[in-house]
Formats: sequence, structure tokens, C-alpha cells
Amino acid sequence: MSNFKSLVSGIGNLNKTTKYYDDWSEKYDETLKLWNYQAPKKSIKFLKETISVKPKNILDLACGTGLFGTELKKIYPKSHIYGSDISKKSLKISSDKKIYKKLQIKNFEQLHHYKIKFDLISLIGSMTYCKNFDKLFANINKNIKNNGLVLFTHRIDLWRQQDFLSILKKHQKSLKINKISRPLNYLPLNNDFKNKIKIKIVLLQKH
Ligand SMILES: C[S@@+](CC[C@H](N)C(=O)[O-])C[C@H]1O[C@@H](n2cnc3c(N)ncnc32)[C@H](O)[C@@H]1O
Repeated sequence: MSNFKSLVSGIGNLNKTTKYYDDWSEKYDETLKLWNYQAPKKSIKFLKETISVKPKNILDLACGTGLFGTELKKIYPKSHIYGSDISKKSLKISSDKKIYKKLQIKNFEQLHHYKIKFDLISLIGSMTYCKNFDKLFANINKNIKNNGLVLFTHRIDLWRQQDFLSILKKHQKSLKINKISRPLNYLPLNNDFKNKIKIKIVLLQKH
């Protein structure tokens, strides 16, 4: 796992991304700690400052090894957190942390099937990998409660390239923009990202 450059330029198709994260899974938490990965903690802070209700059922899409799940569990210890990801090996690590009520191997662009609807759906550090926003938002819309919240991060360089605000506006009939953060550091101790590539945190609300 030496070619971290591809994290900036993109990994490739779904199979390549799955293998990349499977291969990285054992060292992922350690590496991200070294890079001072800030998305999980900053997203929680942003959420806590914005909402006062405690979400009962949470779906953490692209949950990986559970770094965001861990932060969720700290502030919402009684919530039921479900997770999904394409990397089986990352999910095994998540499972060992005993944060998630249920985990499944699934592409976030495929419809997830649950008996419940979620109060909060998160996608932290992973919007980079979305190839089809309509499919992702269809999955979110299917699984979110009325007035439920969607919390995600997105890289500002990609946001600009994709004209991401117009993508959000296209979906605002069902998912209204609640709040967008200022640009924030993402991986401040990684040379390729440092203060060059920042993120925004976004909160949407179903209506
Ligand atoms: C940078 S990690 C973020 C993981 C976790 N959310 C966190 O904050 O540590 C990106 C994750 O997205 C997952 N991923 C990439 N493409 C995906 C897709 N189409 N569907 C589901 N998960 C995906 C990868 O397997 C990886 O676990």
C-alpha cells in the first residue's frame, strides 16, 4: 500500500476500490491517525452544533473500519447504528469494534433494504467514490425518515469540478440543504492533501 497518490486522483472502478480498501484495511486506522484524519470528529462537532435531537436509527454508508461509527457511538450511545461498505475486510474490523448493530457488504449506489427508516444517514470521507449521484440519492431517499438528516463530507476540489451545488439543487425537492460548513482541513499531515485539499461538511434534510 504505497501508492497513496491515487487517493487524490481516484482509485478506479468498484473492483479496484474494493481491493484497495481490503488491502489497506489492517493499517487503515493507523495510517489515518498519522495523517490526522479530521472528517469523523469534525462531522460530529458540526452535527452536534446543528441539531439537538438524538437520532435513534443511523445508517453509516461506506462505514469502512468504523472511524465515524466510533464517534457516533460516543455521542449517541443508545442509538442503533447500521453500516455498509464494499470492503469486506474493513467491515470485519468494524464488526470487531462492536459499534454497529448490523453490517452489510453493499455499494452505496445500490438500494439498501431495511425494515426501518433512518433518522440519520451518513457518508463520511467517501463521496469521492460516487460515480452516479442519482443512484446514491435514490438509496438515501428510500431509507430516510421524513425530516431525517443526511450528513456527508465532500472534497472541495471535486465539488468544483462536478459543480456539486447544482447536483444538490437537483435533489432538493426531496433533500433540502440544511447547512454547509466552511472549508475544513481533511488530512492535514498527508503531503498530497495538507492545506491543498479541503472538505465541506453538508447536512441535508428530507422533506
Ligand atoms: C476514506 S474511507 C472512509 C471510511 C469511513 N467512513 C471513515 O470515515 O473512516 C472510504 C470508504 O468508502 C468505501 N467505498 C468506496 N466506494 C464505495 C461504494 N461505492 N459503496 C460503498 N462503499 C464504498 C471504501 O471501501 C472505504 O471503506
